[in-house]
Amino acid sequence: MADDDSTDAGGAIESRLTEQEYLRPPTEFVGQANATDSAIYDRFDEEWPDAFEEFAELLDWEERWDRVLDDSNPPFFEWFPGGTLNASYNAVDRHLPERKDQTAILWEGEHGKTERIAYQDLYRRVNEMAAVFREVGVLEDDIVTMHLPMVPALPVSMLAAARIGAPHSEVFGGFSAQAFADRIDDAGSDVAVTIDGYYRRGEFLNHKEKADKALEIADSPPDTVLLFTRGDDLHEDVSIGSDDPYVLVDDVLEDKRGAEVDPVSRDAEDTLFLMYTSGTTGQPKGAQHRTGGYLAHVTATSKYVLDIEPSDTYWCSADIGWITGHSYIVYGPLSLGTTTVMYEGAPDFPHKGRTWEIAEKYDVDIFHTSPTAVRMFMKWGEDIPRQYDFDFRHLTTVGEPIQPEAWLWYYEHIGGGDAVVVDTWWQTETGGHLITNLPALKDMKPGSAGYPVPGIEPAILDDEGNEIEPASGQAGNLVITKPWPGMLQTVYGNDDRYINEYWRAFSDTSSDDPKDWVYKAGDGAVHERDGYWRIVGRLDGVMNVAGHRLGTMELESAVSEVSGVAEAAVAGREDEERGTVPDIYVTLRDGADPSQEIRDRIVTSIVEEIGKFARPANVWFVDELPKTRSGKIMRRLLEDISNDEQLGNTRTLRDPSVPDNIRQMVHE
Ligand code: PRX
Repeated sequence: MADDDSTDAGGAIESRLTEQEYLRPPTEFVGQANATDSAIYDRFDEEWPDAFEEFAELLDWEERWDRVLDDSNPPFFEWFPGGTLNASYNAVDRHLPERKDQTAILWEGEHGKTERIAYQDLYRRVNEMAAVFREVGVLEDDIVTMHLPMVPALPVSMLAAARIGAPHSEVFGGFSAQAFADRIDDAGSDVAVTIDGYYRRGEFLNHKEKADKALEIADSPPDTVLLFTRGDDLHEDVSIGSDDPYVLVDDVLEDKRGAEVDPVSRDAEDTLFLMYTSGTTGQPKGAQHRTGGYLAHVTATSKYVLDIEPSDTYWCSADIGWITGHSYIVYGPLSLGTTTVMYEGAPDFPHKGRTWEIAEKYDVDIFHTSPTAVRMFMKWGEDIPRQYDFDFRHLTTVGEPIQPEAWLWYYEHIGGGDAVVVDTWWQTETGGHLITNLPALKDMKPGSAGYPVPGIEPAILDDEGNEIEPASGQAGNLVITKPWPGMLQTVYGNDDRYINEYWRAFSDTSSDDPKDWVYKAGDGAVHERDGYWRIVGRLDGVMNVAGHRLGTMELESAVSEVSGVAEAAVAGREDEERGTVPDIYVTLRDGADPSQEIRDRIVTSIVEEIGKFARPANVWFVDELPKTRSGKIMRRLLEDISNDEQLGNTRTLRDPSVPDNIRQMVHE
């Protein structure tokens, strides 16, 4: 089938692919898949929203729900109201009768340390940690902010908090002290959790330092900081003072050995966790996720999209500090009772074959990663994976569009041509997958996310909010026209922001008819003539840097704080490996001259405000930023310059010579 749209970034490659644009899922895969009856699509269409009961029925509920969806107060939709359950019970306790000795978590640390945690061990650890939380005064509905790296303490703490009905808010370990402090303040946490440190590329990273600093800069620092240790004892480089709020988890645990804490009965709509994420404006916002709908959504998609069976060994290489890890390392896979792998370290340490070595060692069946990682593996060459003996049945990607070339490399060199490859589109806010194929039911199409998950209703709108004809192959704004169980409840503490960021653009916000409410994803997409959906990328000042979500505004505000800086604008530059990288354009105040010193201060400010992963690719000092006559900075033009593309419309510029001058400097 011909490719009909001309806006396709990967179009050149795709056109070379026409003969094999679609690939059939391998017969062996289809024969054993969890979703094999395509009637599921029609059933969800016809019986929407009641068909979502099929998702919820994968869980154990204490009380069954009264209704599937209460949509009487849009956009505050309620899923499975009347139902009660506990997420920790579903992820742990309910598996004990059948598989208490089966491994729940396979943890592969650096420095040769590994842990094999059976469901029975996980039960013990989660209960003991729940008792620790109670001991330090955590009550139901208190938000516990965590800043933990990829160590077993992280899923254990999340599940322990869930057990006592305390929502968790995990801050990705790579985030700075400032980011940790901001999230503690926003959530009003009295108890926080951290660790002495962890290993990265052979080096011990002192992680407690960030908590020390967060305690200094937070407006209302927590009363208690629970401190885990990465080894058996506190690392020699780390100490806890006598009168600070630190409490060693190991000390409290001494008295809690063998403790059992009954899972608290939670309403389906009670909050399970917050996940802060970047938006168009200002500070990150806390996407607030419910217990019932979220757990149902991620469990069902883990089963039907990721095709997880309890007997599988499944590995998602994301960090649990991001939504992918919450949904598809912890909650989905564990609710299904499978074995989930967690890796502490980097994919190239101590050698570039590390990923495949782990896959071989644990005989991983299902592997889930990002396009950034695939591009990196591709750059390192197929000779590396070839040296290892692994055999995947199922491969997935998430986080960015995957170029057909990278997709094919993954399919061929990692999947050996007989694994299914699935691209999954979703967001922190959506909780779980929204657009992705049920892999036995749809042909694979490199570069396309595929069909919506059953029951999900996307559409493409133009900027005025008119629907672009379905399957017309034209790009536009991706929206979701009906609610879904995994959706965020709100932005924590800020319902207005929830409405403004996600709904206002394309909804009639004065209406209480749910049909008038449309969720804006912030992505551009194309509904192709063959019915497949292809995601083009963000339209709203949110960047995807090596799979990490970053807001242009957050970067700009970190840069503006540097003395000497007058104005800053950030442009995303496409990068072969990392997807997008930030280029920073800066004007200086009178009296400040461009210098390496200012450049260093800008980078330091970004690292301190956000984290190392947000480091810019370039900092350019310019005389003037391109602005419209009304004074609005035209970032699009800077993006064109960064990417060495033809300049877009410059007619509205106050001074049309500005972009040319900048271009000369950047590309001279
Ligand atoms: O732009 C889309 C991109 O990642 C954004 C969401 O980022 P985050 O909330 O950090 O969640 C990432 C993991 C779900 C989206 O708005 N994105 C995510 N998956 C894909 C994608 N872009 C293209 N294809 C995907 N499969």
